[in-house]
Amino acid sequence: MELDEYRRMAAAADHHWWYRSTRELLGELLGTRLPAATATTLYLDAAGGTGATGRWLADRATTVLADWEPYALATAPTASAGYRPVRADLNALAHPDATFDAVLCVTALYHQMNADPQATVRELVRVCRPGGLVCLMEPGVRRLRRPHDVVTHAARRFSRSDLAELVRGADLELVRATGAYTFLIPPAAALAVLHRGEATSDVDRHEGGLGGLLGVLARAERAALRHVDLPFGLSVLAVGRKPGG
Ligand SMILES: C[S@@+](CC[C@H](N)C(=O)[O-])C[C@H]1O[C@@H](n2cnc3c(N)ncnc32)[C@H](O)[C@@H]1O
Repeated sequence: MELDEYRRMAAAADHHWWYRSTRELLGELLGTRLPAATATTLYLDAAGGTGATGRWLADRATTVLADWEPYALATAPTASAGYRPVRADLNALAHPDATFDAVLCVTALYHQMNADPQATVRELVRVCRPGGLVCLMEPGVRRLRRPHDVVTHAARRFSRSDLAELVRGADLELVRATGAYTFLIPPAAALAVLHRGEATSDVDRHEGGLGGLLGVLARAERAALRHVDLPFGLSVLAVGRKPGG
């Protein structure tokens, strides 16, 4: 990703409506399924960047933040003292099998670094303990190509079933697969047409979420997600459990 994008992510993480909502969403989908953390609990924030979406995990227990970008690794520990930054390629992690109690991977498989997302997910599963959870969140709506995708070096976007297949294809039991941020699809599609061919970041846009409206819609969607899975969304998520344990 462009270095400016990391700076924007680090600056916006505390107050940008999308980051705040996404931490809540991940906490509800993954956090409520995690056993109480102990002194030996170890999590992996895979491709954690500056810790904008995964820091809640590092607030619960020691969390290795594995990323390729040195700027991100220098910034993440300021997001949570629980972070242990490690420069690593997700496709070849140095950690032994079954090291982590849970693995979070938010917006990484879309990236040009990961030519074979299934192989990347298998590597995340290898380092997860039997019985542990792996949570994937990626850009949704396959055919959309947004100006933000150019800035973030996107190679692909995913459908909900793409993510579910990646989970099953890595021999995980599928716990959940859902869309999220469904209400953002129409404006994102319109903006993609209006700004076709441009490279612009979403991160410094609408930090307050249109006077709080987008945060309210996200909260309403999270309430729905407590009861149902959504078939699509501007983001898609899948949670899998490694058999055994
Ligand atoms: C859009 S950022 C997301 C960061 C963070 N997960 C978040 O949600 O804020 C994508 C990150 O994935 C990292 N990344 C992508 N593929 C990677 C790989 N194979 N190994 C290590 N880092 C990777 C990039 O360096 C970048 O920091």
